[in-house]
Amino acid sequence: MPVHYPNQQEIGRINLMTNKTQSSKKHSSRLAGFYQRSLPDRVAQVAQWAGLDAGAEATLLGMTGLNSAQADQMIENVIGIYALPMGLATNFLINGKDYLIPMVIEEPSVVAGVSFAAKLARAGGGFNASTDDPIMIGQIQVLGVDNVYAAAGRVWDIRDQLLAEANDPSLMIVKIGGGARDIEVRPLIDTVVGPMLIVHVLYNVRDAMGANTVNTACERLAPMIERATGGRVNLRILSNLSDHRKVRASCTIPPEALTTETTPGPQVVQAIVEAAAFAEADPYRAATHNKGIFNGMDAVCIATGNDWRALEAGGHAYAARSGRYSSLSVWTADGSGNLIGHIEVPMAVGTVGGATGVHPSAKVALKILGVSSARELSEVIGSVGLAQNLAAIRALATEGIQRGHMTLHARQVAMAAGASGDMVTRVVKMMVAENNIQLERAQEIVTQLRESEQ
Ligand code: MEV
Repeated sequence: MPVHYPNQQEIGRINLMTNKTQSSKKHSSRLAGFYQRSLPDRVAQVAQWAGLDAGAEATLLGMTGLNSAQADQMIENVIGIYALPMGLATNFLINGKDYLIPMVIEEPSVVAGVSFAAKLARAGGGFNASTDDPIMIGQIQVLGVDNVYAAAGRVWDIRDQLLAEANDPSLMIVKIGGGARDIEVRPLIDTVVGPMLIVHVLYNVRDAMGANTVNTACERLAPMIERATGGRVNLRILSNLSDHRKVRASCTIPPEALTTETTPGPQVVQAIVEAAAFAEADPYRAATHNKGIFNGMDAVCIATGNDWRALEAGGHAYAARSGRYSSLSVWTADGSGNLIGHIEVPMAVGTVGGATGVHPSAKVALKILGVSSARELSEVIGSVGLAQNLAAIRALATEGIQRGHMTLHARQVAMAAGASGDMVTRVVKMMVAENNIQLERAQEIVTQLRESEQ
């Protein structure tokens, strides 16, 4: 049967019902059987949970959303709109608060994986997360000075004037409590063009990702730095290695929560600790391990209209901070045999500015999340990264990922072969039973099923 997508009137009715039944009690993000419901039912349920209006529901259902006129204003040479699925991660408890987390991603298994891992973490009290102040780094490159150390001293001498200039009280960011907090000087001696001085401006960007604010501040301060040093300023740009703006998340999983059909919990804990040690020691494995973490974090970034390339750049650079690329997470066992997970990663995301306030789906995603600041969003994203990492390495260290992954992959193959609605599940079942998940086989099955229906 084709899926029935409700029209605006029906959505209005669902809203009236849900508004009436909405409890004032705190909601739990444990939505039993959510994955088994139809897409419109899931939308109605999340709308009730998050208090979405009919317009937001219509956006989730793909009836409204980013239109071509809006898209045309966002980038250049627009020729269309590219859609991706938005899934909802359930079960998250972070700092004692329940979250339903929208994730935009094309890869199967990720949403199911983080939801499963969040359920495991819940058994140990959920995730604890914290963030630094939202301090971004702006870089100003100074060349052509006789002595970079003397130039560094001259910049240091005018530190107070630089901060005063950057913190012009008429600036909106300053009015809302942001602004430059400090100046750092970093002489770089061994470069292919000779010595240069790098000036860092440490800037509190409040709830924005902050790229525009920081770049503007760097451009504003550059002439003062040229005058003080007698040098020539070249680049004035933020650094994506935003290591003053990190998030930390951790969780504790009791061993019994990790027991599988074939493996006792303590053995699973041991296998996960061994998997993490592999990633810590080997850049080849660390790249894949961290890719899994970004599967989760990027998907929330994209859903909320944030710049996931910035997140990736900062995360990977941070992972290489010791001089050897390593893992962003650590998994150990405590004295009681619990599995303890921890992640620390730079997190330059915002809840205002950029696409967060322009893209209709991003606005709905932020409403579902119910975060009140960029720091809270960072704590959610860090926890999702840790959850996705746990889901991946738990599967890898037990049954392997292919069994679950291939079933979901089979859905995409079935759809690529032309199956839709109920036929997708039937094609998937046959391919999985035959252990033959290939486009050609899916096309044959679709043809057979269509013939048998006629
Ligand atoms: C696949 O997209 C991500 C994994 O490879 C991550 C990992 O190996 O930890 C499963």
